[in-house]
Order: sequence, then C-alpha cells, then structure tokens
Amino acid sequence: MNQTFDIIVTMAFGLEKVVKQELLNLGYQPGRTADGRIELEGGWSDIARLNLWLRAADRVVIKLKEYRARNFDELFDGALNIPWGEWIAPDAKITVVGQVTRSAINSVRASQSMIKKAILESLKKSHQVKLFPESAYEAVIKININKDNALLTLDTTGAGLHKRGYRRQTGEAPMRENLAAGLVMLSFWRSDRMLLDPMCGSGTIAIEAAMIARQIAPGLNRSFGCEQWPMVPGNIFEQARTQARDEIRDDITLEIAASDIDPARVADARENASAAGVDDNIEFSQRDVKDIKLSSAYGVMISNPPYGIKLGSQPELITLYKSLRAVFNDQPGWSIYILTADRQFANVFRADKPDRIRKLYNGNVEANYYQYHGQRPPRKEPHAL
Ligand SMILES: C[S@@+](CC[C@H](N)C(=O)[O-])C[C@H]1O[C@@H](n2cnc3c(N)ncnc32)[C@H](O)[C@@H]1O
Repeated sequence: MNQTFDIIVTMAFGLEKVVKQELLNLGYQPGRTADGRIELEGGWSDIARLNLWLRAADRVVIKLKEYRARNFDELFDGALNIPWGEWIAPDAKITVVGQVTRSAINSVRASQSMIKKAILESLKKSHQVKLFPESAYEAVIKININKDNALLTLDTTGAGLHKRGYRRQTGEAPMRENLAAGLVMLSFWRSDRMLLDPMCGSGTIAIEAAMIARQIAPGLNRSFGCEQWPMVPGNIFEQARTQARDEIRDDITLEIAASDIDPARVADARENASAAGVDDNIEFSQRDVKDIKLSSAYGVMISNPPYGIKLGSQPELITLYKSLRAVFNDQPGWSIYILTADRQFANVFRADKPDRIRKLYNGNVEANYYQYHGQRPPRKEPHAL
C-alpha cells in the first residue's frame, strides 16, 4: 500500500531547527513549520522511519483535518466527515485528548466528547457495528483548537519518543533523552572531538552523543503505538529496524567523558550506557567538578548543573559555577554549553557574555542554553605518503 498522508512531527519549543535538520538528513522535505511542529508528507514506511530515527522530536502524528470550528456544531460536523474507519479499527479503545486556546469554544472536555461522538457515529456506519468493545489497541486522537482553528491528529508514537528504553536508573532531575540529543546536535561537537559532561547525573547527554556518533537509531529498542494497528503493513517496522541495525557503526573511536560528584549517579549512568549499548564509548568517573583536569586543549563541554528549583541551594550553586570557571579558565579551545534555569549562571561563570543563549524547555521548566564558542582545533595534517 503506497498511501501517503500528512504527517506532523512535534517537538519541544526551541528544538524546531534541530528536528528540521534531522528531517533533511533523513532525506525528507520539511514543509510548514510552526512553534513545536513541522509538517511533511509520507506513508507508513515513513511513519516507521521517523519514529525510529528522530532524536529530538516528541511525537509523530497523522494530520487528519484542519478546519474552522467556532461552535460545537461546526466542530462535530467537521469531524464527522473524516473517514475514521480507514484510521481506527472498530474494536480499538478510543481516547480523545484536547487543548483549547483563544477560541469561542472554551471547554476542553466538551470538545473531546464531541469529537468522540463524531468518531463513533462515523465508525457505526463504516464498520456496520452498533457496539464498541474497546478491547483492542488504544487509538489516541488529539483535538487542538487555537483561534477557532481545529486540528485533528492521530498519534502513531505511543509512549513519547524520549522513552528510548535504555534509562533504567535516573537521579532526581534527569533530562529528557530528546532534549539531551537536541543539546548535542545544537553544539559544535562532532564525533572526532572530545566531549565532556562533568555533572552527568544519569548520563543522558553522553549516551545520546555516543548513539549519534555510532548511528544507533534512538527507537531501536522500543515499540511504537501504531505497530498494532491493522491498517499498518505488517513488516514495515521490522524492515526499518533491520536497516537501522545495519547502519550501526562499530568502527569508530570516541572520546566521551562523563563524571558526577555522586557515586550512585555514576553507577546509574554506567548501567544506562550499558543498556544503550554504548558503555564502551564513554569513560565514566566519580569526580567533583573542582577536581577536573582537562586532558586536551580542545573539546566540547555540555552539561546541566543542578538548579535551585529542583536541586542545590544558591550558595552551593555559586561555588559550583566558580569551580567550572576555574576549570575552563584560559581554555580557548573548549566550547562550553550549559543548560540551566538559574539566571545567575552567566554572571558568575564568566565576565564575557555567552555567544548565544537559546530558550529551551526541560519538561515544563523554562531554561536557557548558554553557549560559549571555543576555537576550533587545527586541521589534522594529511599523512605524508
Ligand atoms: C541536573 S543533574 C544532571 C542530570 C543529567 N543531565 C541527567 O540526564 O540525568 C545535576 C547533577 O550534577 C551533580 N553535581 C552537583 N554538584 C556537583 C559537583 N560539584 N561536581 C560534580 N557533579 C555535581 C549532581 O550529583 C547531579 O547528578
């Protein structure tokens, strides 16, 4: 079946650029881009590839319809003429989730029930059934109404894409895996450079970097919601997985170091890296930031220190920033990337301003990604013949 449809890839605010580049690298033509989402066209095999390969995205959903809905009649009628029978099996458990902003319709719950009513009505006709056992897989439909514009989508991902399956152990404030991948992809780090995370917690940044370098598809060890749908061609995910396994690189040497003051976190990080299949690519150690001695004149540091809301008190944080300052003082070859919600960071860490500050979200917490660009390493001389 070579059916194509409209696909929307969703992501946290601030990661649109990274996901767009990922789509280009995967050979897709990204279309309309808005805050937190990018549209493109594709079929079922693309749904499988996107779910399997996108590192910084949240979800892959199918766009069913976008229409004006200024009242519940318009909302219902617009939903009723979608061919729901092509998208949802009659025995599926139908869950409608919703979001309503700046619209004449202002009840999320009533909108959800209206959409569910339209779906059931349509399925009754197309499948010639009266009863819905809701005993099979869960079909999650989202109704998003913004400025009287209704957008109906069908989720294909299931558990969010950040759930790679390798993180068995986490500390108190673990970073989402897709955000960690985004931080790495927004940085100057490439696989031939040194990477350091000196406050690694559960090791997410180092693990994601190693997976990027080794071309390990982030979704290789998990399943996706739509795999159980009868309308999805049976072997499409297995084909994508087989191809992904062939792409894994075992032939590269990486210089990735990750450390943390807390020995329990270092043990967690090691366990997680082992579950992700990259423990041989990362050198873990237990260390206070203040004891770090850089072994190379060039490198990239990406980290997220504890911040007031969740971890660490203010005086402790100031001491930590000063330790970081001492380690990276007079190290022009190091690029430094710090994600924190603590606005004092930049003032304490360095007198000079960051080269760039990006606003990103760590879960629901707004944070800044401070970027200090270091000098690039000299080009390696080609070997004399
Ligand atoms: C916000 S967490 C990092 C979370 C991590 N990115 C993850 O994905 O799990 C901050 C970490 O900094 C560590 N830390 C705090 N003070 C430190 C210090 N002086 N030296 C090294 N690590 C420190 C904590 O133990 C904690 O694991």
